[in-house]
Amino acid sequence: MRTSAFLESTDLCLQAQEAVAQDEPVLLRSPVEIDLLLEFARSTAHGLRQDPPGLECRFLYDRRGCELFEEICGLDEYYLTRTERSILERHSSDIRDITGPVTLIELGSGSSVKTDLLLRAWLDRDGMVPYVPVDVSDSALRSALRSISARHDEARLVGVNSTYEEAFPLFAALSPVMVIFLGSTIGNLDREEFDRFLEDLSDGLAPGDFFLLGVDLVKDSEFIERAYNDGRGVTGDFMKNLFVRMNRELGSGVDLHGVEHEAVWNRRREQVELYARFTGPQTIHVEPLDEVITFEAGDRVLLEISRKFVLPDLERSLERFGLRSKAVYTDENDWFALLLLQKAEPGD
Ligand SMILES: C[S@@+](CC[C@H](N)C(=O)[O-])C[C@H]1O[C@@H](n2cnc3c(N)ncnc32)[C@H](O)[C@@H]1O
Repeated sequence: MRTSAFLESTDLCLQAQEAVAQDEPVLLRSPVEIDLLLEFARSTAHGLRQDPPGLECRFLYDRRGCELFEEICGLDEYYLTRTERSILERHSSDIRDITGPVTLIELGSGSSVKTDLLLRAWLDRDGMVPYVPVDVSDSALRSALRSISARHDEARLVGVNSTYEEAFPLFAALSPVMVIFLGSTIGNLDREEFDRFLEDLSDGLAPGDFFLLGVDLVKDSEFIERAYNDGRGVTGDFMKNLFVRMNRELGSGVDLHGVEHEAVWNRRREQVELYARFTGPQTIHVEPLDEVITFEAGDRVLLEISRKFVLPDLERSLERFGLRSKAVYTDENDWFALLLLQKAEPGD
């Protein structure tokens, strides 16, 4: 197996352009110099002091969090992954027919397991595929790069360890591109974040570039709720792992036995809300900032939302950002959709 070269990037775009022409997989880091621990501490203290309190879901994905997420993807109740996979199995080569031989940039790529279907469609047609997975999780990226390079010698791989937004300048540098955002991860953004994300993403794309978006659709609420309340309690472990991380990295001292998982469907907002409920009082420390926040029995902290979408409404929203549907693929039950969008010409 080829080994990755790790670069500190001051000019991510130039480095990505060079790296995508190389045979060896490369891992680039965000050009933004940040102290990750301090960022986690600030976000946690700020989130816990909000009314109602909530934490940023990107911090769920430390090494253990990524492993637990992969386990969730294989659960019977969690229909999302296998349904999206079935759509990709049927339509990856149709997607390649429409886009032509563009560079693939994937946001929040995780294990990249489903993306393999797209990589194969590109390789079958073009004999090579430039693929740029972007993820905040260093461990998920390294392991995805290792397994893809072991399977596909002809893939040109450039991992980017950064947030979504830090990677947006890459779109112009690597255009023509298809930006990929799978797993209905866009549903983790609230309405305000969703608008800002799409505006910035669309600004980064050149007219004619593509955006492939996987979304979970509104359906029977009990069926949806079951996906987030699995019988083995893996989703609960995934949520609780954030407190394990806080205890380890921030010295939070959370009593883990006093944390319960709660996932409920909010009909008005058409979203699942995943909370940690405290069964007794909690005193949570954020040591790097010397802060202490207290909670009473019964208090809840929002850890993640998962919005569900109605296709015509979603297509109208995307159109507002100059992202026009070229094709919409769904499964036989209309549970999940994959939208292939194209950035419109200005004024079009
Ligand atoms: C819900 S998982 C989806 C993984 C994969 N795309 C799939 O469909 O199975 C979200 C992924 O996005 C990454 N992630 C979460 N927030 C992020 C952010 N703000 N910037 C970059 N990556 C992020 C996580 O590390 C995780 O790998």
